[in-house]
Amino acid sequence: ERDALVLFMPSGKRGRFAVGTSVLEAARSLGVYVESVCGGRATCGRCQIEVQQGNFAKHKITSSLNHISPVGPKEQRYAEVRTIPEGRRLSCSAQILGDLVIDVPQDTVVNAQVIRKAATDRLFDRNPAIQLCYVEVDEPDMHKPLGDLDRLNLMLEKDWGWTDILVAQHLMPDVQQTLRRGNWGVTAAIHRDLEGARPNLIALWPGLHNEAYGIACDIGSTTIAMHLVSLLSGRVIASSGTSNPQIRFGEDLMSRVSYVMMNPDGREAMTKAVRQAINELTVKVCAEANVDPNNILDAVFVANPIMHHLFLGIDPTELGQAPFALAVSGAVHTWSREIALAINRGARVYLLPCIAGHVGADAAGATLSEGPHRQDRMMLLVDVGTNAEIILGNKDRVVAASSPTGPAFEGAEISSGQRAAPGAIERVRIDPQTLEPKFRVIGVDKWSDEDGFAEQAEKVGITGICGSAIIEVVAEMYLCGIISEDGVVDGAMAARSERILENGRTFSYLLHDGAQRITVTQNDVRAIQLAKAALYAGVKLLMEKQGIDTVDSIRFAGAFGSFIDPKYAMVLGLIPDCDLAEVKAVGNAAGTGGLMALLNRDYRREIEQTVRKIEKIETALEPRFQELFVHAMALPNKVDSFPNLAS
Ligand code: FES
Repeated sequence: ERDALVLFMPSGKRGRFAVGTSVLEAARSLGVYVESVCGGRATCGRCQIEVQQGNFAKHKITSSLNHISPVGPKEQRYAEVRTIPEGRRLSCSAQILGDLVIDVPQDTVVNAQVIRKAATDRLFDRNPAIQLCYVEVDEPDMHKPLGDLDRLNLMLEKDWGWTDILVAQHLMPDVQQTLRRGNWGVTAAIHRDLEGARPNLIALWPGLHNEAYGIACDIGSTTIAMHLVSLLSGRVIASSGTSNPQIRFGEDLMSRVSYVMMNPDGREAMTKAVRQAINELTVKVCAEANVDPNNILDAVFVANPIMHHLFLGIDPTELGQAPFALAVSGAVHTWSREIALAINRGARVYLLPCIAGHVGADAAGATLSEGPHRQDRMMLLVDVGTNAEIILGNKDRVVAASSPTGPAFEGAEISSGQRAAPGAIERVRIDPQTLEPKFRVIGVDKWSDEDGFAEQAEKVGITGICGSAIIEVVAEMYLCGIISEDGVVDGAMAARSERILENGRTFSYLLHDGAQRITVTQNDVRAIQLAKAALYAGVKLLMEKQGIDTVDSIRFAGAFGSFIDPKYAMVLGLIPDCDLAEVKAVGNAAGTGGLMALLNRDYRREIEQTVRKIEKIETALEPRFQELFVHAMALPNKVDSFPNLAS
């Protein structure tokens, strides 16, 4: 019997197969993920692949179109009805006739018209927890009185290998009707996450149902962000965000915990509010992509511990005080109906594990996305919010902590501070000679010293300074000598510039004198010093645990990190010395981690194992933290140097 060598790209998996084997079967046997809903009937179009032609000397394969069977009648029929893109074949129908290099496209999409743009350019291997399985069930027979559902299960075992299926109770009343409506052909959604667990039948449709979606959602204390993903193509088809309505109960996390402690229905009200916001956001992303929310079958969430608990309906009071006990730290598996999500009734829900009482499932998501645990090099991953979540490590060891930076980096506690919104100053430069500033304002596309700035600024209004600009202005003040290493605004400078204003015993810097006077006061500088000292001391504590003096790379996760300039972060000593080219903002890495866990259940196991191994450091319990904090109050630091800034 002849056999042929087949190489699958981009996975690089290869194997020998008997001539006549279908490409889909070959892929399956090698563990290459190729979607199939119809089970090889050439009706779903999900199993498309492309043959790469040529001599692949490196792999010792010459791949040609002669090595694959020509299009047969079934595939022809599919192509006539639904059209197959040029060069594509249905892998269930295409048989291996000789050596082949097969490309598994990452964008096999049937409903191409709904595709907008991908929220992320990264491609992830797929292995979703949900599989759609079309089966044709035997008609009932008086002589073999096996129930309709039992015959369905029999087919799911015969065609798809699912054994011992657990049927969601809510499906039972409709099973008979669904089978008859589909003329005995039905599509079953099977959920199986943990290896070895019983597969769950969670949804059933008459006929061939060729759509399955998932949502990945990051519940932040300020913003909730969501991706809508086709589980069959792996594409992100819509992304959106909304503000967390819990803000009305308290701006920051601790005030929300206090609200729960002080109000008997506080927990319930906040749980309801966040779930409702998630449901509204789901409706929004579904409308954008023209998807029926009933076709959402899986949902993955990341959140900080307090948001995580409130979302699940758990009282977060214990998280408000030492020892910061989590009700549950491991990954949570639940059902949409248990937590009132307005998606398919049978949909499954997965929450990533929390790392510690202060380091949540969001930090776990960011870790999964950036992968310090997958590298040799030492990576520092920081997510700055009211608390900074800090992860430091490599493939040998990962440590984590949170540090109480307070809300200064978000513009709170700063006299002219505000959230990043139109009217906020977002960039600042100060001339070292004249001490005159120039700046940029969100909503105005010019620097303040350029022509046309005034007219535009008039319309937007200059209302305050956002978090990234506070870092810049304090760093620029330091570089110009307006503030000393101890962070004191130098009154002697007042002789040199009218920008230095006296207020009682301290001085401030006048950044903008308009309808609203925007100054940087001594208190503002102190607030930034406290915040940056907390962040740096937390980072340094972890570096000491790891026994290292420098880190190889730094990743800033979250909105704050997307706007700050790494150079200024280092000038102020927010972050340790590092090659500036290795300091990157990675945006909503927590959300990306959620997306990965949605697309591939192997990533769920990966982060569950990683989180179990991460060493949690409680900064409050470390006597050394205070000392590091005091050193870090100085600009940039009393003892540590930053050689990368000099170059
Ligand atoms: Fe459905 Fe090939 S598996 S068309």
